[in-house]
Amino acid sequence: MKTVDELKLIISPEEIQAKIEKLGKEITRDYENKKLVVIGILKGAFIFMADLVRAIDLPIEIDFVRLQSYGSRTESSGQISITKDVELSLKDKHVLVVEDIIDTGYTLQYLKEILSLHKTASVKICCLIDKKERREVEIDADYVGFEVERGFLVGYGLDYDEKYRNLPGVYHLNPGYEPKGFIPSDR
Ligand code: IMP
Ligand code: MG
Repeated sequence: MKTVDELKLIISPEEIQAKIEKLGKEITRDYENKKLVVIGILKGAFIFMADLVRAIDLPIEIDFVRLQSYGSRTESSGQISITKDVELSLKDKHVLVVEDIIDTGYTLQYLKEILSLHKTASVKICCLIDKKERREVEIDADYVGFEVERGFLVGYGLDYDEKYRNLPGVYHLNPGYEPKGFIPSDR
């Protein structure tokens, strides 16, 4: 795919696939003989989820949730609501939440609270990218693909204003194109 000049590749499709193979093996080992439901957070996680579940060699169940956060387009405000709930029964099952990126942490904190009402056997988190720069609540993913210090990222499911989700790699959106309300540190 053509690269436009506002984008800088930071994680290539090959690096992503190699990491997913590794995560898939770890998850397969950790959940052997357990009832596992993998829950993807729409929309951002849809591509990561599709690749990750194919790297997990277990008879898993799959579901999706959709969360909406109020505030600016690019920042979680901490005010989050669920617009598409889980459809499967989660009772006594192990849940693995798949997220594209953790930023402030509000989204996952909220989802974990909701899932705790389902009497699950456990809830863990797998995220493709852990961005620590703007973390506001203490939340740690159990499986992390990549740690990225700063910047606004797009591609491989991640969007800016609903665009760039279909790029096969992960890109930095260059300064000047950076969304309003996003204050990058020295870069
Ligand atoms: P949090 O609640 O601040 O952790 O926000 C997580 C959500 O914000 C993610 O699921 C993304 O949808 C979005 N987000 C955070 N950082 C980025 C980014 O760098 N690029 C694209 N979306 C992002
Ligand atoms: Mg998201």
